[in-house]
Amino acid sequence: MSQELVTVANALVARGKGILAADESFPTIAKRFKSIGLESTEEYRRDYRHMLFTAPDFSQYVSGVILFDETLRQKAADGKRLADILADQGVIPGIKVDAGAKPLAGFEGETVTEGLDGLRGRLAEYRELGAKFAKWRAVINIGEGLPTRFALEANAHALARYAALCQEAGIVPIVEPEVLMDGNHDLARCQAVTEEILVLVFAQLKAHNVLLEGMLLKPNMVISGKGAADRAGAEEVAKETVATLKRCVPSAVPGIVFLSGGQSSVEATEHLDLMNKLGDLPWALSFSYGRALQEDALKAWQGQSGNVATAQAVFRHRAKMNGVAATGGYSS
Ligand code: 13P
Repeated sequence: MSQELVTVANALVARGKGILAADESFPTIAKRFKSIGLESTEEYRRDYRHMLFTAPDFSQYVSGVILFDETLRQKAADGKRLADILADQGVIPGIKVDAGAKPLAGFEGETVTEGLDGLRGRLAEYRELGAKFAKWRAVINIGEGLPTRFALEANAHALARYAALCQEAGIVPIVEPEVLMDGNHDLARCQAVTEEILVLVFAQLKAHNVLLEGMLLKPNMVISGKGAADRAGAEEVAKETVATLKRCVPSAVPGIVFLSGGQSSVEATEHLDLMNKLGDLPWALSFSYGRALQEDALKAWQGQSGNVATAQAVFRHRAKMNGVAATGGYSS
């Protein structure tokens, strides 16, 4: 069982490959579709994801796809399961298993991620359905007096309980503590909060007997708040992110796959590339992007079957650029 975890975790960060996060919940996909004037129906959701998953050759750059519950069970118009379409191309199907970040009682402006109740049973079913890895996202908000130590601890604890349950079920956990980019804080503040949550997360993972060799970390980059007056440049983002990760993430972890968190597509690629260009890294550094991989393709698609080939080419291009960035070989 643990050998399988290690094998899958390493396959997800194979050289030049990363993960596509296509696990938008119902409200999130509705928001994305709204940006192109499309209603979120089951058929459109299926067709959109089918378009992504059948893009020619995207498996050269994408090792795995994180799915939402509906998608893991969904069949394409020709009756083939979307998860099988991925697996047949050598792309590993994964599943988002958290039930979302909910207000943390007693701590205004903070959240804790729910979904532990019944998780053991759901994981067993997801494994039957073909999922080999999972994702759980904790959300950390920077604000005045925030985050509190208590909220960080609550989230780190839940992440570790989730990770231990995944490994028990033979599923590789992607552990995602996301420090949000929202706000006008500077890079130093993001750095301090990111370091604090990562230290707590790895202490909890250890306490919960999680096998570090059989998991992946999905963190934010160390970056200025979106509304910061003087946002740090790409070189500084890369340098501070790598320095912070080196301080906090044991080298037993095979890979770190970043979320894009609202960065533009090109920014997310450039940052990843610069980090890999720094070299001397104890883990693979790659991507697990949602918006930064999908945004351009969604715009090109517009819900029209006549646009599928163009949208697929756009998606494949972004996947390729990020695959290249994961080796430090990108030039804009
Ligand atoms: P973004 O890359 O759009 O932040 O999404 C990644 C993800 O899976 C967030 O949980």
